[in-house]
Amino acid sequence: MVAVIIPAAGSGSRLGGLPKQMRRLGDNPMLFHTAQVFDQHPSVSTLVVVGPSKDLDAIKKILTSLKKPCEVVPGGTTRQKSVEAGLRAVHKSTGIVLIHDAARPFISAQIVTKVIEATKNTGAAAVAIPVTDTVRYAEDGCFARTISRDGLYAMQTPQGFQYDLLQKAFRQAGGISDATDDVALMEHIGQSVQIIEGDRSNIKITTPSDWEWAQQRWKTKP
Ligand code: C5P
Repeated sequence: MVAVIIPAAGSGSRLGGLPKQMRRLGDNPMLFHTAQVFDQHPSVSTLVVVGPSKDLDAIKKILTSLKKPCEVVPGGTTRQKSVEAGLRAVHKSTGIVLIHDAARPFISAQIVTKVIEATKNTGAAAVAIPVTDTVRYAEDGCFARTISRDGLYAMQTPQGFQYDLLQKAFRQAGGISDATDDVALMEHIGQSVQIIEGDRSNIKITTPSDWEWAQQRWKTKP
């Protein structure tokens, strides 16, 4: 059985205004579009959506037309705490858990399939894209040291894990509470994670210009 956790409890402060997961792309809120990709995926059985406590009823309303069982639970103060809250709602008989940011509505079913297959084979897999820009630290408003981009990847979601492995990673997270993805917890327990090459359109909508881009892109989405 495959369950998906969708963390959607962020405040979206970099975008401002209405929490980004509630903003409409076309006829529906972004969160609905993201959830629908998994609702329609033949290998996914259940969904857990993690939202801000004050918005749980609004989120349930947004998701009423989903066909699969979908639990909505309150999140925490960091993404890691929100995913942990979602994991508590995942049934113990689950084989694989996928985690996918609500703010990535352009995820394709093909990539979801690749992550599920790789997770079945290896225990852990995640989507990422090779870094193509030059990357450099900054100090006091000026550029400092350049980092070689050879072998660097920008992480995306979904990230897939065997259920027991994900439980173990959260149990052993120790002092870490602000991991910005779940591969960081695998790194902490020494678990290797297979790379699934992603798609540049699977961006995490974060800034006002991402939102502008998303609105245009949505209009021409196949
Ligand atoms: O903050 P960031 O953009 O990296 O968040 C990625 C995803 O994690 C978003 O979908 C956001 O709603 C979610 N999140 C969460 N709980 C938090 C912070 C972020 O569920 N406390």
